[in-house]
Amino acid sequence: MDQKPDSQHKLIEDLTGVNTSKLNYYAELKKRNEEISRQNVRLEILYRLSRAINLEMSVEDMIGETFKHLPQALRCELLGLAMLKNGELQIRTLLPFQSLLHQPVSRDSLLWTSFAEKTALLLPQLPAEDPFFAANPALAEKLRSLVAIPLLQRSVAKGLLLVGSSQVGAYTQDNLDFLQHLGDQLVISIQNAQLYDDVSRARKNWESTFNAVPDPILLIDTDHQVLLRNNRPLPKILHVQPADQAGGKCYFLLYGRLVPCPDCPMDMMRQSPEPVYRRLETETQRVLDFAFYPVLGEYGELVAMTKTVKDVTEKSQMENRLLHSARLAAIGEMAAGVAHELNSPLTAIIGTAQLLRCEWVDRAELAESLEEVANCGLRCKRIIKNLLTFSRQDQVPMTETDLNREIERAMALVHYLIDKSHIRIIKSLCADLPEVKANGLQIQQVVTNLMINARDALDKNEGEKTIRLETFLKRNRDGLWAVVAVHDNGQGIEKENLSKIFTPFFTSKEATKGTGLGLSLSFGIAQAHGGTLEVESIPGEGSVFFLSLPVKDCSVPRVVNPG
Ligand SMILES: Nc1ncnc2c1ncn2[C@@H]1O[C@H](COP(=O)(O)OP(=O)(O)OP(=O)(O)O)[C@@H](O)[C@H]1O
Ligand SMILES: [Mg+2]
Repeated sequence: MDQKPDSQHKLIEDLTGVNTSKLNYYAELKKRNEEISRQNVRLEILYRLSRAINLEMSVEDMIGETFKHLPQALRCELLGLAMLKNGELQIRTLLPFQSLLHQPVSRDSLLWTSFAEKTALLLPQLPAEDPFFAANPALAEKLRSLVAIPLLQRSVAKGLLLVGSSQVGAYTQDNLDFLQHLGDQLVISIQNAQLYDDVSRARKNWESTFNAVPDPILLIDTDHQVLLRNNRPLPKILHVQPADQAGGKCYFLLYGRLVPCPDCPMDMMRQSPEPVYRRLETETQRVLDFAFYPVLGEYGELVAMTKTVKDVTEKSQMENRLLHSARLAAIGEMAAGVAHELNSPLTAIIGTAQLLRCEWVDRAELAESLEEVANCGLRCKRIIKNLLTFSRQDQVPMTETDLNREIERAMALVHYLIDKSHIRIIKSLCADLPEVKANGLQIQQVVTNLMINARDALDKNEGEKTIRLETFLKRNRDGLWAVVAVHDNGQGIEKENLSKIFTPFFTSKEATKGTGLGLSLSFGIAQAHGGTLEVESIPGEGSVFFLSLPVKDCSVPRVVNPG
């Protein structure tokens, strides 16, 4: 045989089967390689999906994102989810057949069996007679094969992942394993997104409740650091308040301090974890109520405290007024009783003194003393009359009254007293002031009292002395008021005396000059008119007294000074 060495070599290899093994070997290698690269693609898809799907995504978006990536690993012309809702399996999303949303999956369909038995379903051909596909011909027309993967959450079936193709027999057992992985991952993502959703909803509810509280609330840790606060601005406690910032130490935020306050409630709570309540009058003349509540840790240890701040200025003023009224009412009742008892003996004393004085007119010394007795008696009678008015024993008629006119009349009466003291009187009377229901004489009495007080307060003034009489309309939540204001630039009233000046017999004047009844009398008159008498004063600068009387709303031409 004359054969070339190459062909000889081949023949030997063919005969010994080396070539067949090589072929098999390469074929196997190729298959493995393809398998590995397919696995790689699938892993890559799972990885990309796990990165692309985030907590804030809806289930629909998750399926949308999967639908973008899945065709790289297998044929996929349909991707959807059927989820259990109210005991029924319903199509939650089905791309691209969104018209089938909320379609129920009937219990005699193969899909339901897959769901109920928690086993994957592989349909190489679509069974047209299946109730679900029969009910959805549009789907049946486009689809040829389908895979259904049960979605299990702690072994409980929650739904089905549906993957479909327009090709007959598009899926193998191998695809099923991969899709089961995908299904497991989707369940975890859906569960996480639901948990995230629940937590964010709970957080939102909690935050909106926290922010709906009209007063500031702060959560402060044991190191005085403000951890949390609602969106209400902090009250202004100091004249120069530190800038309101988000965090920081509570002692700095509220009081501009660099070290904790000496009487910090946190120290008390460390001893005993009980709530602490405080009331504070600020530099800015506001009254604030603070409530501190301990926040305890797992073992009952103090971990923080909450602090709420409430501005109770109006409430506190109202309480003071009520207290004052109650005190005045009690004093008034007593005064009325005493006044009645004194009235008759006083009349007898004055009468007898006057009679004796007439009889002993020739004994000058005696007559003078008797005149003194009669005058003192008359002064006492005046006081008694005031007391009776103050205790509202005297019922007076009320008619529609022009306050400006009553002021003019009162001025005419006291003018000479004021002029003597070289006081400039300024009038700013509101021309449109509506009439109020009042007793003109009593209003004159109040204005006179206020003007005489203002004159006395200006007594020691070195510079220009002025009294300004003003009338204006004011609206507040209680209605509309006609206000008479008497301003002076006199000595002012010390803060500690502000609450005392309306009390009967409180006077800073010498005994012969004042009885301390003027303001309490005026206060009683204001109350009897359904009004108020209030004061604002700065020691050394002056005072303003406001007599406010209610106005019937319909008689209002315009609001001059809305307060
Ligand atoms: N305009 C004012 N400026 C400063 N202090 C005032 C003013 N008005 C009242 N007061 C203070 O209030 C006190 C009480 O006033 P009130 O009118 O009740 O009594 P009085 O003036 O002392 O005596 P009376 O009015 O009975 O003659 C006064 O003694 C004074 O200390
Ligand atoms: Mg007075």
